[in-house]
Amino acid sequence: MEQLKNQVAVVTGGTAGIGRAIAMRLARAGARVAILGRNRERGESVVREICAAAGDEGRARFDEVDVASTADVERVLKGLQGEWGGVNILVNNAGITRDALLMRMTEEQWDSVLDTNLKGAYNTSRVLIRSMMKAGGGRIINISSVVGLTGNAGQAHYAASKSGLIGLSKALAKELSSRHINVNVIAPGFIDTEMTGVLSQEIREGILKAIPLGRMGKPEDIAEAALFLAGPGSDYITGQVITVDGGMVM
Ligand SMILES: NC(=O)c1ccc[n+]([C@@H]2O[C@H](COP(=O)([O-])OP(=O)(O)OC[C@H]3O[C@@H](n4cnc5c(N)ncnc54)[C@H](OP(=O)(O)O)[C@@H]3O)[C@@H](O)[C@H]2O)c1
Repeated sequence: MEQLKNQVAVVTGGTAGIGRAIAMRLARAGARVAILGRNRERGESVVREICAAAGDEGRARFDEVDVASTADVERVLKGLQGEWGGVNILVNNAGITRDALLMRMTEEQWDSVLDTNLKGAYNTSRVLIRSMMKAGGGRIINISSVVGLTGNAGQAHYAASKSGLIGLSKALAKELSSRHINVNVIAPGFIDTEMTGVLSQEIREGILKAIPLGRMGKPEDIAEAALFLAGPGSDYITGQVITVDGGMVM
């Protein structure tokens, strides 16, 4: 069923992993999807895949941008809206890790993680909220992490950025509820992507032991939650954190 027909979605970091799965799922539900990322080759390949599956050349597009750059995000999103019209759904998914213990963490590591993971969501939201207001409503879905709820050694910056996304989302949910813009968070657990592909076998086995459902998550597990939050079934949900982690954090 095309429950997102006539909707326009923006997915940051849709060139790989979780963002790619979300972009593909929202498109399969009928949305036109704009993917924002830095890797043009991968972005255009996802666009080709979406358009081929939909049998519709205009179902997806890629825009090259670093979400940490306020000016570039503004330029790209204004251009997008000029061509495609208003945006109904925003998924802030772009994120990076630069693991280091705080004592050894460089300012560059701190800034790059905060600027991409948290400021990136500020950059996109402040531009797109206006068109959602004009359209009479919208959905913002921020991809945090269970680490934003629990903390994790070696990830002070990452945890701060992911907790920050939760605070940002709750504040925005309150600011925007009267405009029918729902803002929610997905906190993924341990999902099989390039981000977790760098972990050693020992660390992976340790994490697996802490997952009651006994497996790593797939990007598609997160995409189903994103579809729910983007679609009409979540009309009465705002300011919430949905943890999709196989039961890791209860
Ligand atoms: N995998 C997990 O276990 C897990 C768990 C909890 C939360 N998360 C969160 O889920 C999100 C997606 O993670 P993933 O596992 O799918 O990671 P991934 O495979 O490494 O993909 C990250 C995506 O973010 C994009 N990106 C990174 N920096 C960017 C920037 N400055 N500007 C624009 N795009 C940027 C990348 O695109 P380009 O290369 O094209 O720039 C890529 O598409 C992240 O926010 C991550 O923190 C992941």
